[in-house]
Amino acid sequence: MLFEPGFLGTSAPFYMDFITIFFTVFPLLMGFSVFLAIKRKYKHHFISQAVLLAVTSIIIIIFEIGLRISGGFTEYAKGSDISYNFMLVFLTIHIVIAVISLMAWIYLFFSSFKAYKANNINTIINSNHKQIGELVFFGLSISSLMGVCIYLFLFLF
Ligand code: HEM
Repeated sequence: MLFEPGFLGTSAPFYMDFITIFFTVFPLLMGFSVFLAIKRKYKHHFISQAVLLAVTSIIIIIFEIGLRISGGFTEYAKGSDISYNFMLVFLTIHIVIAVISLMAWIYLFFSSFKAYKANNINTIINSNHKQIGELVFFGLSISSLMGVCIYLFLFLF
């Protein structure tokens, strides 16, 4: 099922199509969660962050397993006309931004969760939560966009 041809009409397998669609809409979902915080709907902001973090973690695990089983980037790159070295540099930058953003996201979520559970919303408001949150949002959105670009490089061109 995971490795059957995908539904987007490219040479990508099903799991790649599915994950790419997820990361295409991810910045919008994240933006909506931030919008809830701007509207001071902190409970909904918290729930949406928890759901997004859980779903994204599962998607990344599926992605990593799929990639390992199918031979990884080098194998997929054989079918692309784009310069291998260019894709390698692009992929490296993507991985660095994505790993840092993901770590910052996990840190921000659990540090905020601790204060939220203790009913200390003011602790969050008086911290640099907003600044780190904006950086996390920006970093994850760039990572998603670059991931979609890598999909296009590998399976469309
Ligand atoms: C347990 C999880 C979380 C709780 C309880 C929580 C709670 C809050 C609270 C109380 C605020 C208002 C802060 C202020 O006005 O200065 C806020 C704002 C914000 N949060 Fe979170 N948050 C959580 C997780 C996250 C995460 C993981 C992100 C990462 C994207 C994030 C992004 C933001 C942003 C960007 C704002 C600023 C919104 C604005 O411009 O007013 N939050 N959050």
